[in-house]
Amino acid sequence: MGDHMQWSQEEEENAKERAAENSRVKVQREDQERYEREASKYWNEFYKTHKNNFFKDRNWLFLEFPEILPEKRREELKTEQRSLEHTEINTTNSFSHKNEMFEAGEKYWKKNCGGGSTAVQGYEYNKTQAKPLTDNARGKNSGEELGRLESFPGSDATYRILEVGCGAGNSVFPILKVLCNTPGTFLYCCDFASGAVELVKSHSSYNSAWCSAFVHDVCDDALPYPFPDEILDVILLVFVLSTIHPDRMQGVVNRLAKLLKPGGMLLFRDYGRYDTAQLRFKKGHCLSENFYLRGDGTRVYFFTKDEVWNMFNLAGLTEVQNLVDRRLQVNRKKKVKMQRVWIQSKFQKPLLLSLNKPEETTERNPCR
Ligand SMILES: C[S@@+](CC[C@H](N)C(=O)[O-])C[C@H]1O[C@@H](n2cnc3c(N)ncnc32)[C@H](O)[C@@H]1O
Repeated sequence: MGDHMQWSQEEEENAKERAAENSRVKVQREDQERYEREASKYWNEFYKTHKNNFFKDRNWLFLEFPEILPEKRREELKTEQRSLEHTEINTTNSFSHKNEMFEAGEKYWKKNCGGGSTAVQGYEYNKTQAKPLTDNARGKNSGEELGRLESFPGSDATYRILEVGCGAGNSVFPILKVLCNTPGTFLYCCDFASGAVELVKSHSSYNSAWCSAFVHDVCDDALPYPFPDEILDVILLVFVLSTIHPDRMQGVVNRLAKLLKPGGMLLFRDYGRYDTAQLRFKKGHCLSENFYLRGDGTRVYFFTKDEVWNMFNLAGLTEVQNLVDRRLQVNRKKKVKMQRVWIQSKFQKPLLLSLNKPEETTERNPCR
């Protein structure tokens, strides 16, 4: 995937002007502070209103981010997809096929991971006692604290993924569909909107044998994760960082980088600068440059790929991919054309810690 469409200089200038125009009137300071303080409340209201009907399932995930899966499983999946292309798929049977996949996965897990000893979300679980992890003192290093525990959710797994800001599970369920057939894998997912986490946990495909959904505010540095540092193979950040105040983004990325194993990957997709969604804002919705308030109280930032590169580089991660994905979307019914802009990036935690400082980020390499 690459730039599907280039903008002419005129289009770029036009977009810049429209963004400058709609940013002229800013949201009042007191209101800005309230939206920051009560960010989770507005997202909770969002999920109360829309349940899981707002975002579409992210079925493109494996196409854009094959790194979500362990390498061996990626190859198997390719073969399975090729053979599926030769099979006539009866759509009325697809749901029962999905259930069969889950059942097969569950059987495997029970057989190979000791059934009853499965870690239960939110608990240090062993045969003699089950102690809520929330008993941990806030502010303690979760890695140190939890590394000593006998078990934590997903401790039996060899390949672990975390989806940050999972919402109602539009990425979670496409991933689980594949993970339940991939022994040794485990998916964590978190959101600071408790209503969203509830939607995920009450879904018929949710199973604590290979998934742990928990309420967590990634902006709260002192809040421990229910697993130790440096155990994740993949972190997925899909349309989440854009909802966080720009002043807090670097702190969030730094903390997440600590959760990755050396060699682990952070996969990112989010709104890009001058996306149609940015240009459509009316005056009075701008919070700060390229950061806007929606009518429902949620917020959205529009990134450049250099900003994304700087953030991940400062967190000690190395670029594997960092691109602008521009597409022309046409809504034939409404007869409108939309210039969509997204940033898609893959950054890796180096295998060996370099003694050098991260690359200089103030003067960004213009060729990138
Ligand atoms: C645009 S939605 C994307 C949901 C999901 N990733 C998807 O692609 O469908 C952004 C999500 O990020 C969550 N979020 C925003 N700030 C957060 C924070 N500080 N900690 C955890 N989750 C957060 C919101 O509650 C919301 O569910």
